[in-house]
Amino acid sequence: MREIMIDTNEPYRVLIGGGLLRDAGALIQSLERKPGAVAVITDSHVGPLYAERMEESLKDFRHYVYTVDAGEENKTPETLIAILRSMAQHEITRADLVVALGGGVVGDMAGFASAVYQRGMRFIQCPTTLLSAVDASVGGKTAVDLPEGKNLIGAFHQPAMVLCDTDTFQTLDPARIADGAAEIVKHAAIADEKLFDVMAAQDWQSDIDAIVARNVEIKRSFVLQDEHDLGQRQMLNFGHTIGHAVEAWSRFRLSHGQAVAVGMVMETRAARRLGMTELAEDALIGILEAKGLPTAVDATAEDILEFATRDKKRQSGAVTVVVPDRIGHARLERLDMGRFRQYVEAGLP
Ligand SMILES: NC(=O)c1ccc[n+]([C@@H]2O[C@H](COP(=O)([O-])OP(=O)(O)OC[C@H]3O[C@@H](n4cnc5c(N)ncnc54)[C@H](O)[C@@H]3O)[C@@H](O)[C@H]2O)c1
Ligand SMILES: [Zn+2]
Repeated sequence: MREIMIDTNEPYRVLIGGGLLRDAGALIQSLERKPGAVAVITDSHVGPLYAERMEESLKDFRHYVYTVDAGEENKTPETLIAILRSMAQHEITRADLVVALGGGVVGDMAGFASAVYQRGMRFIQCPTTLLSAVDASVGGKTAVDLPEGKNLIGAFHQPAMVLCDTDTFQTLDPARIADGAAEIVKHAAIADEKLFDVMAAQDWQSDIDAIVARNVEIKRSFVLQDEHDLGQRQMLNFGHTIGHAVEAWSRFRLSHGQAVAVGMVMETRAARRLGMTELAEDALIGILEAKGLPTAVDATAEDILEFATRDKKRQSGAVTVVVPDRIGHARLERLDMGRFRQYVEAGLP
């Protein structure tokens, strides 16, 4: 088992290893304040696979399992309310514990439920997708979507522990593994050339625990500098400025990871063509294609600008972009809207 400390205001441990779900109960016992009861929130794909294992390990706690329908389309205020009502009906109190058992959707929603239930209580992340293990479960962002946009209601709320059982990845579709790989390549591109080389190898999944651990460390390094996402943390947006626009333009036909793959290639090409970097996008294209990820879409500059500026309007007429100087290092640059238009145009294939 690997262990990484995240030293936020209330420090927490990220534990990574095969079979950890069976130890969930014992690990919860090790918390400084033991909860009286545990609310396990999962989804309709993960529950049938792993809820029993979790319940078995929680047998010393009063607990229940609440299962939401799987999928981003259910990451809504309605589902949130249903989760909160299940907690009230099971007489969960602020001194108890929420366990998020699932991917980023469950993590974001159960995390947000724990942030607002009785003005806030503790929760544990048990990420079961590669994407949520390397990204969503660390950093303390929780949210639900509105019809007007993703993640529009949420809170910063750090988990009391992250418990990542890497055995659960065995039941993931290849496309979901690829989604996680996209975020790993992002971390590698902005912060770790060696990780980039590891990801380029055919057998990159052979030591997945080490990969998850390294990604948690990278995310930690950006998050700790900037818990509330106003400065350095924006570096984690590499591939996301254009990627979010591509995701919305596709009407979410592209998954988040697929859109980020396209976004990283377009942002690198844009920066190169505008003379902001000497890094060519070829290495990124090669590694992403090998993972089965797309690297181009047939959106026009207008399409992308429409969605990208909708996303960024709040920030007073300028957009911060992430410029990779070389693999393993990046910097932030603010572009006014005129320059951002040129940037998007330059990013097209
Ligand atoms: N809070 C953050 O910092 C942060 C960061 C990145 C992404 N996110 C959020 O995370 C979400 C995406 O996360 P995701 O890709 O994990 O999506 P997800 O939770 O929808 O999981 C993807 C699919 O895999 C299924 N699944 C999960 N674990 C499984 C397993 N072990 N075996 C079989 N099937 C399994 C799910 O039911 C779902 O159908 C988005 O809502 C995004 O906004 C949040
Ligand atoms: Zn992302």
